[in-house]
Amino acid sequence: MTIAEINSIALIWIGIALVLVPVQLKVTAPYGRHSTNQWGPTLPYRTGWILMEIVSPLMFCIFFLSGNGDKPAFAWIAAGLWACHYLNRSLIYPFRAKMGGKRIPLAISGSAIFFNSVNGFLNGYYLGNLASTYPGNWLFSWPFWLGLTLFILGFGINLQSDNSLISLRKPGETGYKMPQNGLFRWISCPNHFGEIIEWSGFAVLCWNLPALSFAAWTAANLIPRAISHHHWYKAHFDNYPAERKAVIPFVL
Ligand SMILES: NC(=O)c1ccc[n+]([C@@H]2O[C@H](COP(=O)([O-])OP(=O)(O)OC[C@H]3O[C@@H](n4cnc5c(N)ncnc54)[C@H](OP(=O)(O)O)[C@@H]3O)[C@@H](O)[C@H]2O)c1
Repeated sequence: MTIAEINSIALIWIGIALVLVPVQLKVTAPYGRHSTNQWGPTLPYRTGWILMEIVSPLMFCIFFLSGNGDKPAFAWIAAGLWACHYLNRSLIYPFRAKMGGKRIPLAISGSAIFFNSVNGFLNGYYLGNLASTYPGNWLFSWPFWLGLTLFILGFGINLQSDNSLISLRKPGETGYKMPQNGLFRWISCPNHFGEIIEWSGFAVLCWNLPALSFAAWTAANLIPRAISHHHWYKAHFDNYPAERKAVIPFVL
C-alpha cells in the first residue's frame, strides 16, 4: 500500500469519527454506569473488555513486524509505547478494575473490536512499512520530543486516575462514590482527559495521518462519554462541586 492509499483510508476514518460525534453526544455507549438491558446479548464485562482491547496490540504487532520497510529507532519507540499502553489496557487493567459481575453488550464489544482492529492496522502498517519516508533525524526532531513528553504526561494522568477510581471500591463493591483526588478536583473524568493527551502526543510524535486518526477517534469517543459521566454525577450527588468540569479543566 502506498502512503497516498493509507492516508486516504486514514482521512476517511477521521471523517467517520467526526460524523459520529453528534451520535455519541446523543447516545451514550451502554457500559459501566450507562448500562441498559436494551442492547441485546451481553458478555461478562471482563471477557468483553479483554477481547475488545487485545486486538489493537495484536493488529499493530502483526502489521508492524511483518512490514517490509526499514524500521528506524523512533518507529520501535512508537511501537513500544503502543505495546506498553495496551499491555496495561488489555491484560492488566481488566484484572485490577472492580468489574464484579457486570456485563457488556456484545454490540459494544464487537464494534470496539472493529474500531481497535482498524487503529492497530493503520498505525502498525504505517510504521512497519513507511517509516523510512521520515527525515533521518526524526528521533532528534521537536515533534518527536514534544509528542513523547505529551504521551508520557497523558499516560501518567490516565494511570493515576484509573488507580484513583479503582481504589474507590472495596472488594465486592459495585456502586459509585464521589472521586476527590488529584485532577478529579477540577474534572469528572481525568482518566479520559489523560487518554486524550496521550494519543494526541502519539500523533505529534508520529506526525502521520493514522496516528492523527486514532487521536481524533479517542477524543470523539471520550469527550461525549465524559460529558455523560459528568451529567450522571450531577444527577446522583447533591453536593457535586459546581466548579468541576467534565473533561478539560476550566473549559468543558
Ligand atoms: N481510546 C479510547 O477510545 C478509549 C475508549 C474507552 C475507554 N478508554 C480508556 O479505558 C479506561 C476505562 O474507560 P471507561 O470509560 O470504562 O472509564 P470509567 O467509566 O471512568 O470507569 C473506569 C472504572 O472505574 C469505575 N468507576 C468509575 N467511576 C467510579 C466511581 N465514581 N466510583 C466507583 N467506581 C467508579 C468503573 O466502574 P463501572 O464500569 O462499574 O462503571 C470502571 O471500573 C479509561 O482509562 C479510558 O480512558 C479509552
